[in-house]
Amino acid sequence: MGVAQNNVIENIITRRSIREYTDRKVSDEDIKVIIDAGVHAPSGFDSQPWFFVVVKNRGMMKRMSDHCKPRLLAQLAEATNEAAIEFKKELAQEDFNIFYDAPVLIIILGSNAAFTTDYDCSLCAENMMLAAHSMGIGSCWIGTGCFIQDNPELLEELGITPDYRVIAPIVFGYAVKEPGETAKKEPEVVWIK
Ligand SMILES: Cc1cc2nc3c(=O)[nH]c(=O)nc-3n(C[C@H](O)[C@H](O)[C@H](O)COP(=O)(O)O)c2cc1C
Repeated sequence: MGVAQNNVIENIITRRSIREYTDRKVSDEDIKVIIDAGVHAPSGFDSQPWFFVVVKNRGMMKRMSDHCKPRLLAQLAEATNEAAIEFKKELAQEDFNIFYDAPVLIIILGSNAAFTTDYDCSLCAENMMLAAHSMGIGSCWIGTGCFIQDNPELLEELGITPDYRVIAPIVFGYAVKEPGETAKKEPEVVWIK
């Protein structure tokens, strides 16, 4: 680890994906602060191509989860790595919700008209997760949620038009317990001096 240490770096290093949430709701005010942090991310040509759908309706989240689960299971059918095999076991459970029963899901959508929409929305996503963490709110990016893209009925109900694509579905809420540290791989770096 480098010598530079400050609150921002500490916040970055201590963020973890949270997969167990209490019933405590995240206030709309806090959600607005989190989204505001998101839109301060850099974007190619300053295109700011994002669009947000905030889902607090548990029934809607369950329907989305039920749609996505079998699709991910099919995709993982041939997977051999340990983490994927473990995840498949969880997914196969009837009551497993891909959104971990979190109180709120924010879907970040990117405009298909922007050249850099995937990069821009991913930067926006990390800003939001870090802002949330600094406010004591946990988060987890749920890539599995992207399977809603092939369900026109759900897209319509969510107000998602064909001009936008789902990039980062992220759940937010209060963690049941403090997450432990995870070991990150030593980065491979080439220095040219
Ligand atoms: C593009 C992307 C998709 C992800 N999809 C899922 C997902 O569907 N379900 C899940 O539980 N975690 C998902 N994650 C979270 C990763 O599993 C997590 O970031 C990784 O294990 C590292 O852990 P950390 O976030 O605590 O550092 C996703 C993360 C990213 C960046």
